[in-house]
Amino acid sequence: MNSLTSSLPTNKGPRPDSRERDFVDETITRRSGRPGALLGILEDVQEHAEGKYLCLDTLAYIAQRTGTPLSQIFSVVTFYSLFSLTPQGEHIISICRGTACHTRGSRDLLEKLRLELGMAEGDGQADKLTITSADGKFTIRTVACFGQCAMAPVVEVDHRICGHMNERVLTREVEALHQEKAR
Ligand code: FES
Repeated sequence: MNSLTSSLPTNKGPRPDSRERDFVDETITRRSGRPGALLGILEDVQEHAEGKYLCLDTLAYIAQRTGTPLSQIFSVVTFYSLFSLTPQGEHIISICRGTACHTRGSRDLLEKLRLELGMAEGDGQADKLTITSADGKFTIRTVACFGQCAMAPVVEVDHRICGHMNERVLTREVEALHQEKAR
């Protein structure tokens, strides 16, 4: 294992298993030749994976199947905040901590959400944070900027961008996710 890969999390179980390999193969076939194919492949595979994350062996498999250097794939997944190298919750709420969102109260939104979900402060600074609830249901993440500054403060709820967010609406979004879970 080289220095690039030694810092990556190891697999919990055998991954990718045959089902995941089939999904990767099918995704590569479907996405190949399209603009941004690699990003799309990584996004689809992460969304499909148990724990919604990309482990080293899965990245290595994608590298092998697409003929892309693993170092290039690793650069992509560490550059884009949407990718995770560690397991994530069932629901992912991302709060923008960019300047425009910060000046419009994103720190308060982050604190409100963290308290509402009973999460500790977690590792890292508020500007780069990933916390997952003990039951694995929710992950809160912070991102640098969604590129939607005119709608600040911006929060993403399970890939849905919500602009002009406030605490009342955020509470409603979380309640809806809790209810969805109970259905
Ligand atoms: S600073 Fe939040 S979307 Fe740009």
